[in-house]
Amino acid sequence: MTTKNGSFYQFSLAPHKSYYWCACGKSAKLPLCDGSHRGCAIKPLPFSSDVEAIVDLCGCQKSKTAPYCDHEFCCKQISTSS
Ligand code: FES
Repeated sequence: MTTKNGSFYQFSLAPHKSYYWCACGKSAKLPLCDGSHRGCAIKPLPFSSDVEAIVDLCGCQKSKTAPYCDHEFCCKQISTSS
């Protein structure tokens, strides 16, 4: 399950599965890498979990805790745009 929520994504992690978070923002399958970064210096960030979990993944590529959303940039944008 992937649900876009503002500029972050609620994402269901399966245990012991490898994922690649898009760090460049060009992927058509955000928040995951689809290979669109080819040709640029930015590479995807691999991550996984030992347990099944629903997490907030960064969708703005500015989180200090990537691949997880730190709710800093996206939440400030939401609060200042209203
Ligand atoms: S498409 Fe963005 S890091 Fe791969």
